[in-house]
Amino acid sequence: MRTRPLKVALLGCGVVGSEVARIMTTHADDLAARIGAPVELAGVAVRRPTKVREGIDPSLVTTDATALVKRGDIDVVVEVIGGIEPARSLITTAFEHGASVVSANKALLAQDGAALHALAEEQGRDLYYEAAVAGAIPLIRPLRESLAGDKVNRVLGIVNGTTNFILDKMDSTGAGYQEALDEATALGYAEADPTADVEGFDAAAKAAILAGIAFHTRVRLDDVYREGMTEVTAADFASAKEMGCTIKLLAICERAADGGSVTARVHPAMIPLSHPLASVRGAYNAVFVESDASGQLMFYGPGAGGAPTASAVLGDLVAVCRNKLSGATGPGDSAYAQLPVSPMGEVVTRYHISLDVADKPGVLAQVATVFAEHGVSIDTVRQQGKDGEASLVVVTHRASDASLNGTVEALRNLDTVRGVASIMRVEGE
Ligand code: NDP
Ligand code: HSE
Repeated sequence: MRTRPLKVALLGCGVVGSEVARIMTTHADDLAARIGAPVELAGVAVRRPTKVREGIDPSLVTTDATALVKRGDIDVVVEVIGGIEPARSLITTAFEHGASVVSANKALLAQDGAALHALAEEQGRDLYYEAAVAGAIPLIRPLRESLAGDKVNRVLGIVNGTTNFILDKMDSTGAGYQEALDEATALGYAEADPTADVEGFDAAAKAAILAGIAFHTRVRLDDVYREGMTEVTAADFASAKEMGCTIKLLAICERAADGGSVTARVHPAMIPLSHPLASVRGAYNAVFVESDASGQLMFYGPGAGGAPTASAVLGDLVAVCRNKLSGATGPGDSAYAQLPVSPMGEVVTRYHISLDVADKPGVLAQVATVFAEHGVSIDTVRQQGKDGEASLVVVTHRASDASLNGTVEALRNLDTVRGVASIMRVEGE
């Protein structure tokens, strides 16, 4: 074993960073044995230097992250600050000053992954980010390496723990969205500002990263269709139950049937209770990967939290350190396929539509005609009438999102349709 240690700069020592530091210390001997050299925490960059940080030598703490990554003797920079800046500048500076990078930053990777990968390659460095998608669950490496010989057609999953906790609460207790969010906040799952989670931005960033790796194609954050889950109601859950379904916020990345394009989307969807994703409870994540040769694979586990996320960071750290010692770099970016990313309008799936309508002769026929005129085939219709009004629930066969949108627009223009109470996609059948 080499005795000279590999030097690690830790940028950020919050929920994830503090656990990375703890595991680096407590598992130091095992890590050294697995890597073939000891790893030394050479500096810890934070925003608040006076905060007490258990297990961290105060002499290592600095607020000058730039000076730390510019030192020239750092082998690996672990970026767990989050956000776009200063994380992006620090990572590029790290590459330019001889370090490889491990990051958990999905927002940055989804936005600037291509440029960061290009710089890493130019400088002969590694850029690893297993922790950026689904916390502890090994997903990036299986897609990038284990499935490198297969053809991935679909990645479908729950990649945000906060929203899964909220939806699970709504489903199991009948709570409304706000009540479930309050509980998620009180238990520390939801952040003070939960926008990134509940509006689907966090899951969309993860979908962009997954789709890019799965399909060897550049998928930007803007390419991902995104709908949050704030509009999901207790009534939607009641409707889902009647269909033998539950509701999950799903990230879905698909190759088109002809193989010529891909799509990536995040939105709430009904899934049958018999689908394995329906039983993913609390803040857990689970992702299905469907490939030509492997068939269906399911990855399941804790998608967030300090220690689980640090597990993924440490796995990357070991891999990057091993690469350093062997004078090599790991597999980089692969976007050779350059498949176009199709807009949401071209996505084909099933829909559950709840309408408030007048309860009088001919209304059902009128509604059915609108569906037929837009080429959307109806699978089932349920009607419940009360005092001259009725609630009509239509479930369609597979149709394109563009056809469905056209149908809904036309339905809104019917005098007999008082309102469109909800539209939800039905997946996983
Ligand atoms: P925290 O907010 O808990 O920690 C952020 C850390 O960065 C803090 O130590 C903070 O310092 C430090 N920091 C902030 N700004 C600067 C700056 N300008 N210079 C130096 N240090 C700075 O975030 P998390 O640990 O939760 O998240 C870190 C990353 O991991 C993010 O990219 C996140 O998306 C990702 N991630 C997080 C998961 C989780 O469950 N928390 C799961 C998966 C990924 P100070 O301590 O002084 O405030
Ligand atoms: N806020 C994210 C979640 C953290 O709830 O899943 C993990 O990326």
